[in-house]
Amino acid sequence: MRSLKDRVVVVTGAGSGIGRALALGYAARGSKIVVADVQDDARTETVGLLEAGGTETLGVKVDVSDAASVEALADATIERFGEVHVVCNNAGVGGGGLIKDQQLVDWKWVIDVNLWGVIHGIQYFLPHLRAADEAHIMATASVAGLTATPGLGPYNASKFAVVGLMETLFHEMERDDEANVGVSVLCPGVVKTNIITAQRNRPAHLRRQRTGTVVNEDARRRNANVAAALAERGMDPAEVAECVIDASIERRFWVLSHPEHLVEIEQRNLALHQLANPALATSFTDGE
Ligand SMILES: NC(=O)c1ccc[n+]([C@@H]2O[C@H](COP(=O)([O-])OP(=O)(O)OC[C@H]3O[C@@H](n4cnc5c(N)ncnc54)[C@H](O)[C@@H]3O)[C@@H](O)[C@H]2O)c1
Repeated sequence: MRSLKDRVVVVTGAGSGIGRALALGYAARGSKIVVADVQDDARTETVGLLEAGGTETLGVKVDVSDAASVEALADATIERFGEVHVVCNNAGVGGGGLIKDQQLVDWKWVIDVNLWGVIHGIQYFLPHLRAADEAHIMATASVAGLTATPGLGPYNASKFAVVGLMETLFHEMERDDEANVGVSVLCPGVVKTNIITAQRNRPAHLRRQRTGTVVNEDARRRNANVAAALAERGMDPAEVAECVIDASIERRFWVLSHPEHLVEIEQRNLALHQLANPALATSFTDGE
């Protein structure tokens, strides 16, 4: 993107964490912001912050896992601003636990939000982006989309899929002479956000069935403790947002805000190259 001034930027999950930081970061460059989030109080708070800074803002309640809801978000954006230039498919949820302890509702919730949310964003916004003079689309994956850490099965699966999806989109947009759409994927390490309490937005019909065993509760508690400790030491979301904004200006695909993880990504690729079994990432923690 040559300039972000007066551009229309849509951010999903803009009520909190990385999404809010993206909204504030693009606003600081003079963009108009669509704040999309499922959580009412969080969304309203971000809208308030932006409006207090004089940014032209539209708040929209959206559930990214629901196709009709994302279609309505695209319609509301066009109705208000007439065009859209940057889409940040950022909303996401996380949950821990070993694969043997997962219930189908765990898979469904995480895949619906983290993967289908991005698919819906591409489906309903890409036509508008292709129609713009220049545009950018990104998705927030994770280092968990490049290395597979035990205890994060659904999350890893969703983020690996998002990386593959965005990489494919990158190639297709590069080859498309009519489109002027840059593509990025953000793969952060640990960031100080509210993702540890992602269950707050889990729909009632996708909540876990009680199994009567203590195993799941125990694993969940251990994971939560570790996640809380890591989040304490996590990166400031504003720093992550700057990496994304720079990438959208420079049209860079990979956004690795935590380059220290490149070592384990390289180790994984090397093992693959040698057809060796996967080695455990050096930053691995199983919650002990
Ligand atoms: N925090 C980290 O350490 C970390 C690391 C790597 C990747 N990520 C990814 O970053 C993204 C943002 O997460 P975060 O860490 O800022 O967490 P967060 O919980 O602070 O923010 C996520 C936002 O998404 C919203 N949301 C949840 N479900 C939604 C839905 N169905 N529809 C619309 N909005 C929904 C929440 O209301 C919240 O405002 C996620 O995709 C997450 O997987 C986070």
